[in-house]
Amino acid sequence: MTNSLSDIMEVALLLSTVATGLLGFLLIFNAARLDGKTVIITGANSGIGRETALDLAKRGARIILACRNMDSAHDASCYIEERVPGAEVIMKHLDLASLKSVRQFAEDLCETEQSVDILINNAAVGGIPYTKTEDGYEMTLAVNHLGHFLLTNLLLPKLKASAPSRIINVAAHAHIFYSIDFQDLMLEKSYRPIKAYCRSKLANVLFTRRLAKRLRGTGVTTYALHPGMVYSRLTCNLFTSTIPIISTVLNILSKYLLKSPKEGCQTVVYCAISEELTDESGLYYSNCALSMPTMTALHEGHAKLLWRESLKLADLPRDEVESDDEEEDSDDEIEYNEDDNSDIAIEDDNDDYMDDEIN
Ligand SMILES: NC(=O)c1ccc[n+]([C@@H]2O[C@H](COP(=O)([O-])OP(=O)(O)OC[C@H]3O[C@@H](n4cnc5c(N)ncnc54)[C@H](OP(=O)(O)O)[C@@H]3O)[C@@H](O)[C@H]2O)c1
Repeated sequence: MTNSLSDIMEVALLLSTVATGLLGFLLIFNAARLDGKTVIITGANSGIGRETALDLAKRGARIILACRNMDSAHDASCYIEERVPGAEVIMKHLDLASLKSVRQFAEDLCETEQSVDILINNAAVGGIPYTKTEDGYEMTLAVNHLGHFLLTNLLLPKLKASAPSRIINVAAHAHIFYSIDFQDLMLEKSYRPIKAYCRSKLANVLFTRRLAKRLRGTGVTTYALHPGMVYSRLTCNLFTSTIPIISTVLNILSKYLLKSPKEGCQTVVYCAISEELTDESGLYYSNCALSMPTMTALHEGHAKLLWRESLKLADLPRDEVESDDEEEDSDDEIEYNEDDNSDIAIEDDNDDYMDDEIN
């Protein structure tokens, strides 16, 4: 694809996402309480994460704000305590761009917390110039997917011991616009900020689905969701990197046209508290209802491959399930298609989404 055509397509996709995001400004009315429950929220110092923390604190949950900037975490903690006097809010340092930091956070948490009932993987970056983390990984994939992948895996023993428990991955409809090129996972050949963001969000949906399969029967359930188009720092960064010419106007307008972070957190809260989701796992939600992700996000082959690559990158050992998967995979034909950036061709049927055996 030529650069100018890519530019036009990226602008079109961003605007179409904005258009769909304008639909469904709803607030949920559910009085469910979370007294005695512990909730971890990554990136809880701003935007959707902070409003999710506030909502769940109102319901009596013990909230752990997992943030990289402790001054900003402190401000968020004050914001919550002003509105919910007596709220139990704990701040912990977590930099998802550093595998070392994720390991330290998880170790500390497993030692100090009796239970973890809800893990909300919310933090993200988007619209940033090409950057590598201290581990040598492309920043957007590292923060939005890999850091959360490692965090979730390290917290699984705690989550299983606390079952019924939930893992919520804040994804985005933007996942539909790009697939994952497993031959260029670090985007060294073709970096574009919006591409990096979209494929990291696809990774969130694939991860949620794969995780659900692996957690079947444990009482730990997983949910991916789109919060809607929300006015936040991340949205402004995406506008600025994709449509710089009109980004100033768009950023001003979006404050009035897009959902507020409070509206944006509703589907996150819905996945965290709704009784009717207790027996669902691995699915995708939007506007507080089940939604359909793109077919690529339903592809078992992609999900397996992502899981396997993520284990390697996060330096996690392969477990028995993974070895079983490998045997199973030898029956699937996995072919890299070098001419086609649609990335990968895998002979493996997609599951029927609604009737999936995950549920
Ligand atoms: N806004 C939308 O329209 C929209 C649409 C679809 C999906 N989403 C998703 O919603 C989630 C929340 O986004 P938002 O709109 O609320 O954006 P936001 O206000 O920019 O919040 C992003 C949060 O992630 C944190 N973060 C970034 N890098 C981190 C790192 N290395 N370690 C730990 N935390 C890190 C940020 O912390 P700092 O303050 O330290 O930077 C911030 O707290 C994201 O997963 C996003 O993909 C948003």
